[in-house]
Amino acid sequence: MVGVGLIGSGFMGKCHALAWTSVRAVFGDVPDIRLVHLGDANAALAETRARELGFERFSGDWRAVVADPEVDIVSVTAPNGFHAEMAIAALEAGKHVWCEKPMAPDFAAAERMAAAAAASGRVAVLGYNYIQSPAIRHIGVLLEESVIGDVNHLRVEMDEDFMADPDAPFFWKHEASSGYGALDDFAVHPLSLIEALFGKVSRVMCDMSRPYADRRTADGARRAVETHDVASTLIRLENGVAGTLLVSRSAWGRKGRLQIQLFGSRGSIVFDQERFNELRLYTTSDRPTEQGYRTILTAPHHEPYGRFVPAPGHGLGFNDLKTIECHELLRKIEGKPARLIDFDAGLEIERTVHAMARSFDEGRWVDVR
Ligand SMILES: NC(=O)c1ccc[n+]([C@@H]2O[C@H](COP(=O)([O-])OP(=O)(O)OC[C@H]3O[C@@H](n4cnc5c(N)ncnc54)[C@H](O)[C@@H]3O)[C@@H](O)[C@H]2O)c1
Repeated sequence: MVGVGLIGSGFMGKCHALAWTSVRAVFGDVPDIRLVHLGDANAALAETRARELGFERFSGDWRAVVADPEVDIVSVTAPNGFHAEMAIAALEAGKHVWCEKPMAPDFAAAERMAAAAAASGRVAVLGYNYIQSPAIRHIGVLLEESVIGDVNHLRVEMDEDFMADPDAPFFWKHEASSGYGALDDFAVHPLSLIEALFGKVSRVMCDMSRPYADRRTADGARRAVETHDVASTLIRLENGVAGTLLVSRSAWGRKGRLQIQLFGSRGSIVFDQERFNELRLYTTSDRPTEQGYRTILTAPHHEPYGRFVPAPGHGLGFNDLKTIECHELLRKIEGKPARLIDFDAGLEIERTVHAMARSFDEGRWVDVR
């Protein structure tokens, strides 16, 4: 029996709760899961969400979740600026932690999180769900089998348009307490794919911009935007591969674009999260008369697609990636091999993000380490 605590019950809070609810039905090989305690700064929301999502109790104070003796694992899905304090308190209370990305806006706080995880002996992992996608996992297989030869160039982009409207209101993602902006919010996701598929980034050269200087607040006043919603970075990986990483939260028309393009000596692979049940492969081994990108639809032989649906091409959804991540977390707690970004690997992503920000501030290439 595993007791779950959840801190924060917005977009990601619901996503974690759905994962906890469905992981047993999808994978089978996991212990009984009890949704014990939900905490949210908004006590009324905590009460409503606890009832809707099936938690036994709720609190308007996250510390009650961490102190609850029947909670074994804490899902941290509050805004970025709270992650360090919440995750460290949970680890010190002997809980395993599943914390949403990014680790923390402040690098020293992220280091403290990694140190707390190491000292606790508990499992501490981050919510980098896109590495769980069956298509992304299959890209790993194609790279391992050298199907496109040696990769020489990669282009990664993440774009959405939830900040594209200049009249959209100010909220916590515009505050400096949430981090640099598109770097902490978005760039960390492509970096998690790079980490999972290739390894570490060695050097970066970054430019950032802020499309709208201020936004209206709830009381109708204007408040200066403190973050950068757009970032463009040249990157160089430790294995020598060169690439670009472009992110924007103000890209009209882009709803959930996380595109990765890989170019190798014998072909190319293209993936886009907006169509994440497929990937496109180009290989020079095809006859010249038939060369072109072919579209591969995910199917039961692309792990772990078949756990959800036995029919090829029917497709998974965004929340399913969290269910896969939840299953990996439970495997890791049982000491089994798991595909996850733990706090140590997450710290490397944070190191890259902070190097990008330093590069922008200083107007030059910066070594990540
Ligand atoms: N992995 C992903 O794909 C993904 C997607 C979106 C968001 N996120 C991450 O999830 C986190 C939450 O983002 P969101 O979009 O769910 O935000 P949200 O605004 O929808 O929800 C945040 C919730 O936290 C609660 N909260 C705020 N301060 C709190 C506190 N001190 N104690 C307890 N609860 C508190 C809010 O009331 C709200 O219910 C962020 O760190 C974000 O980066 C990850």
